[in-house]
Amino acid sequence: MGRGGAGRVEIDRAALVHNIREFRRLIGRKRLFLGVVKANAYGHGLVETGRIAAAEGVDWLGVNSAAEGAALREAGVGVPVLVLGYVPLADLEEAVERDLRLTVYNRETVKALASLARRTRRTVRLHVKVETGTWRQGIVPRDLAAFVREARKSPGLVVEGLSSHFANIEDTTRHDYPRLQLDCYRTACRDLEAGGLSVPIKHMSCTASTILFPEPDFNLARVGIGLYGLWPSKETYLSASLEKREPPSLRPVLAWRARVAQVKKAPAGAFVGYGCTYRTTRPTTLAVVPVGYSDGYDRRLSNAAHVLIKGRRAPVRGRVAMDFVMADVTDIPGVRLEDEVTLLGADGRERIAAEDLAALAGTIGYEVLARINPLIPRVVV
Ligand SMILES: Cc1ncc(COP(=O)(O)O)c(C=O)c1O
Repeated sequence: MGRGGAGRVEIDRAALVHNIREFRRLIGRKRLFLGVVKANAYGHGLVETGRIAAAEGVDWLGVNSAAEGAALREAGVGVPVLVLGYVPLADLEEAVERDLRLTVYNRETVKALASLARRTRRTVRLHVKVETGTWRQGIVPRDLAAFVREARKSPGLVVEGLSSHFANIEDTTRHDYPRLQLDCYRTACRDLEAGGLSVPIKHMSCTASTILFPEPDFNLARVGIGLYGLWPSKETYLSASLEKREPPSLRPVLAWRARVAQVKKAPAGAFVGYGCTYRTTRPTTLAVVPVGYSDGYDRRLSNAAHVLIKGRRAPVRGRVAMDFVMADVTDIPGVRLEDEVTLLGADGRERIAAEDLAALAGTIGYEVLARINPLIPRVVV
């Protein structure tokens, strides 16, 4: 049973495999390819996506939380899993039991892990995050050597990786800020090495930098949005074209489909939906679609987006409600109860892209995908 009529999210296996191959081509065989599957694999289904990625040669998976890592393990996914987010001290034990690698940037976390490693006689692999200018997680470079030294002193703790993250690579075609961050990261690596504290796995890349900065000194790339067939931004696409890099060909992986819950005829002059924000100008046939903002269909798409029915565009009329949206099918003859509705993805020659909905809702494709309610069934097709 799904979430009422909120339909299903289809994962196009062939498209996902295609995107994986495109990024493998960019990353090469000598570097590790980490597929970022946090946020329910950007809405695509953590387990479904994780299994396909691991089977198709993605070396590592990246999650946000210990719970996501545990779900992958429960599903039998055995590849190395790196937790990119914050693991509360109370959840560290589960993370260690599940053999998850952890991104660390707090002394308290390292201390707790040291005592867990001693008690459980397990090896815990750490990836220390360096602050290079994003001012999110990370240890400032001047404290890095002491942090790494302390972690390495504890039996059972292995400092396996050194990571950082770009702040401003997707939003612009000017890349001086990421270049500054790169310099900062490289200096931090060199300083550590000079102090006899070299760390084997270095990683800073996301989708945009994997395409734009094929830096030879990183040995792992963390690819998220590109796996799912989206460009991080128009600016990234433009930058790749300007720099004459052969852009990867990316194929969107996700389609969101539901079924018509009612077909009804409204007279000219009828108000549609909450707030009476739309008034019909002619006798109008409406398809009621049982999907709303609680499913992740953004309320800002009210009176703005289209859905696809019978391969044709039907405009959304009135406000998107918590569980319903109405579409105008007056110009699409023969629409019946339970006909298929495509909210996102292709139907025939028409397609609604995540970027289209993002532009209408004033956000980015990442958010449109990541907010599709995880309770809606994911089906691999
Ligand atoms: C730490 C980290 N690495 C990698 C990624 C992947 O970024 P992208 O989806 O742009 O490839 C993310 C995504 O937000 C991230 O937070």
